[in-house]
Amino acid sequence: MHDSSRVLERLHELAQLGRYEAGIDRALATPAERAARDRFAAWARAGGRTLTQDRVGNLFARRAGSDPGAPAILVGSHLDTVKTGGAYDGAYGVVGALCALETLDARKIATLHPLDAVAWVGEEGSRFPLGCLGSAVFAGLTGVDEALALVDDAGIALGDALADAEGGLLRGLPQREPEPLAAYVELHVEQGPIMERAGMRLGIVTAIAGQRRFRVVASGTSGHAGTVPMSIRADALAAAAEIVLALEKAALEREAVVTVGRLVVEPGATNVIPARVTFSVDMRSPDDAVLDALERVLDEETREVGARRDVRFSRVPLERRAATPMNRDLREAIRRGAASTGERTMDVPSGAGHDAMCVAAVAPAAMLFVPSIGGASHVGEERTADDDLELGVEALAAALVEIDRMLGGAERG
Ligand code: GLV
Ligand code: MN
Ligand code: MN
Repeated sequence: MHDSSRVLERLHELAQLGRYEAGIDRALATPAERAARDRFAAWARAGGRTLTQDRVGNLFARRAGSDPGAPAILVGSHLDTVKTGGAYDGAYGVVGALCALETLDARKIATLHPLDAVAWVGEEGSRFPLGCLGSAVFAGLTGVDEALALVDDAGIALGDALADAEGGLLRGLPQREPEPLAAYVELHVEQGPIMERAGMRLGIVTAIAGQRRFRVVASGTSGHAGTVPMSIRADALAAAAEIVLALEKAALEREAVVTVGRLVVEPGATNVIPARVTFSVDMRSPDDAVLDALERVLDEETREVGARRDVRFSRVPLERRAATPMNRDLREAIRRGAASTGERTMDVPSGAGHDAMCVAAVAPAAMLFVPSIGGASHVGEERTADDDLELGVEALAAALVEIDRMLGGAERG
């Protein structure tokens, strides 16, 4: 078997974990997600890597470098999925990292820097209310105790979930100690249509869009659906619906994206006026000033609609990540590595969030994309062509060598 076809086999294996009719559901600290971390550890051990784990469950698999004093180059992505995830978002970058290290083994290519394949936990924020959880803790953007205290919808704290044998931390692994970092690289599927439309197979990410997430609660007055006249209602859902449409309009006017993906209506009965609605707001833009403007719209609209309809709005900010440009030198090193595959590259922005946004706070960071068929992602039908998956790993392995050389030169110079 050619080295690179291992990436397909492993992705197929991971895709069985958490699979159901609508896709893959592999939320942090569930048995399926824990099983995926187990697979990562088994593959890493079989490849001769040294494994470490941190307190939130991030896993690091080291390929030693030839200079014992050199800081590590980190390469990886995440193993968790959204509720209706596909086989590639996150998993590809993790499996791709392991496979790229094995490609270097097979070719007997030594690097100066240790290469650490990393599997970040909880990137999607689909169970605990914080995206990029593992990388945010790693980068010191979120305190570890603060992360462990986060609770899911059932009231279970992350700390307790990670202590659980079924879904929790892997047993018997040494703790990762903080250490200096040379760089971070993440391989990912594009999750959008730009590359496919351009007919390009390798993309170098220019910048990751900024994002803000909120939980908003609208509290109105419940009552009998048949007896309370429309003119005197304080219907929490009707008020929330106005906010959803105002945000849609504001996003359209600013070329931003806003999504209300989750909405819980209480008491949730056909013949009872909604008393309370809890909904999520997810805003993205490459321009942080646009996000400021969208947040002002949310402010003003909830005030105006709330007063007019006699509905109280409250909101909790859950996540705030600035737009993050990727490191220029790393981008060029990735471009040189990718060029060695004979494929051309294109520059591409990322509308999706990634762990690279958080790691960029503590190390130069960059990303390599392969195309998504039809641009589909966060759906069970997410696909990328096998050839493109293999090409991405090949390009990543070559990029790591370029980055190692570039940084070695910089460190010696
Ligand atoms: C992660 O996939 C995100 O962009 O929400
Ligand atoms: Mn995702
Ligand atoms: Mn992802």
